[in-house]
Amino acid sequence: MAQDIDTRAATLRKTTEAHGQEHVFRFWDELDSAGREQLITQLEALDWERLSKWITTYVLATPELDIPGDLKPAEYYPAIPETPHQEQLYSEAMSLGRHLLREGRVAGFTVAGGQGTRLGFNGPKGTYPISPVKDKTLFQLFAEGVLRTCEKYDVIIPWYIMTSPLNDQATRDFFVANDYFGLCPENVSFFSQGVLPAVDTQGKLLLATKDSLALSPDGHGGSLLALRQSGALDEMRERGIDTISYWQVDNPLVHMFDPLFLGLHDELGSQMSCRALIKTGPYEKLGNFCDVDGRVEIIEYSDMPEELAEAQDDDGRLTFRAGSPAIHVLNREFVESLTESGRLNLPVHRAHKKVAHVDDDGRRVKPEEPNAVKFEMFIFDALPMAQNVLILEAVREEQFGPVKNKSGVDSAESCRTLLVERAARWLDEAGIPVPRKKNGEPDCVVELSPRRFLDPEDVAAAAADLTSPERGAREYFD
Ligand code: UD1
Repeated sequence: MAQDIDTRAATLRKTTEAHGQEHVFRFWDELDSAGREQLITQLEALDWERLSKWITTYVLATPELDIPGDLKPAEYYPAIPETPHQEQLYSEAMSLGRHLLREGRVAGFTVAGGQGTRLGFNGPKGTYPISPVKDKTLFQLFAEGVLRTCEKYDVIIPWYIMTSPLNDQATRDFFVANDYFGLCPENVSFFSQGVLPAVDTQGKLLLATKDSLALSPDGHGGSLLALRQSGALDEMRERGIDTISYWQVDNPLVHMFDPLFLGLHDELGSQMSCRALIKTGPYEKLGNFCDVDGRVEIIEYSDMPEELAEAQDDDGRLTFRAGSPAIHVLNREFVESLTESGRLNLPVHRAHKKVAHVDDDGRRVKPEEPNAVKFEMFIFDALPMAQNVLILEAVREEQFGPVKNKSGVDSAESCRTLLVERAARWLDEAGIPVPRKKNGEPDCVVELSPRRFLDPEDVAAAAADLTSPERGAREYFD
C-alpha cells in the first residue's frame, strides 16, 4: 500500500538531514497538499549518495580537470577513401547501409531538450524558423527528411524526439498544430529527459519555489536513460530496430540517415560511432576526439589544455584536428546494456549558471550573476564503454551548420548561408547552374525541400524538371 505523505516526509527528513539538505523542508508548513506531494516526489527521485558525491567533488572542491597525461588523437576514417582497401570497404558499407535502411532496422533520434539560451529564442529550439526561403522550422526540415528517406527505402522509419520537462508540451503541441508535417503520429515519439537539481556554491539544494527544487535537464547524456525509461528501447526491439541514428536539433544540415555511416558502423562492429569534422582552428567549439589507452574519449572544447589544442603534426596540421559535430550511430543493445540497472553511470559535468530561486525568507531571487552549479551528463561519455568505436570524417559544408548563437559563428545567419551554398552546389553538380557573384557565392537564394531532395542523387534524378534560378531570385525547389 502506498505510504501516506507524512510517513514519506518523515523518511525524507532523515535522508535530507544525513546529507545536510534539510533546509528543503523550510516552507513545509505553508504548503498545500499538492505542493507537499510535488516536493516529496522530487526528493524521492534523487539519488542521494551520488548527489552528495557530486557536491563534494564538483562544488565544494575545486574540480581538477581530469585530463589523462597520455592523450593521443583518436584515429578516424577519412571522408573520401584514400586506399584501395578503403574504397572497397566504403563501397560495401554503402550497400550495407542501404540494406539496413530498407530492412527497417534504423530509427532516427533527435535530442531537443536544450533550452536554446544562447539563441535567445523563446520556445523549443526545433520550432525555430531556419530555411532560407520558406522559413521552415528545424523540426519541419527533419520531418520532411524522414519522409523522403522512408519513401526512398520503402520503409517506415520511426523518429524519436527527446524533449525536456521545460519544452515537452510545447513540442508536442507544435507537431499536432502542424499535422506532424505529414508523418504518421504513431511513428513519431516524444519523451522527456530527466532532470537534476541545482545547488548553490555551498552545495545546498536550491528551491525554485517553496514547493519545488530548482531542477534542470540532465544533459543529452540523460537521453540514454530516457530511451529506456520511456519504453522507446522496448518499442524499437519490437519493431526490429537495432540501430539508432542520433543527431542534435540544432543542425539542419545533418545527413540523418547516411548509408555509408550506418553501413560502416555495422560492418566494423561498432557499438557507438561518431562523425568527425576537421577543426577550423585549435579553439573551434567542438569536442576533441582523443585516444586514452586504446579507448575513444571526447574532451570538450572548454576542457582541452591549450598546449594540446594548439599542438601540430610535422605537416603543420593540428594534432587534435578531429572535432565532434555530435552526430552518432548507436546500437540499441549498447544503450540497453548501459542502462540495464535502471541507472546510468556516466560522469557528470558541472556548469556555473544563473538559477532563479527562493531565499531563506521565501523571497524570489533572480540573480544577475551565476550563483549555482548545474549538473549535466554528456552522451559522448559513453564512448569509452563502447567496443570498436568508428569515427568517420564528414565533409563540413555538407553536414554541419548548427544554429547556436544569435549572430556570427554557428548562428541562424551562418546556417542559412550554408543551406543556400549546399543547395547551390547540388544544383550545379546536377547541371542546373546557379548564378554566382565574382567571389563565387551564389547570387540568389535557393532552397531545396528535403521532402524531395535529400541528397545530390535526388537533385540529379530530377534535373530534367528543374530550371536555373535567375540572378537575385529567391527560389524554392520542391
Ligand atoms: C555540443 C557538444 C560539442 C559538439 C557541438 C557540435 C556538448 C556538451 N557539447 O556543444 O562537443 O562539438 O555540440 O555542435 O554537448 N540537449 C538536450 N538536453 C540537454 C542539453 C542539451 O537535449 O540537457 C541537446 C540540445 O537541444 C542540443 C544539443 O543537445 O540539440 C547540444 O547541446 P548544447 O548544450 O547546445 O551543446 P554545445 O555546447 O553547442
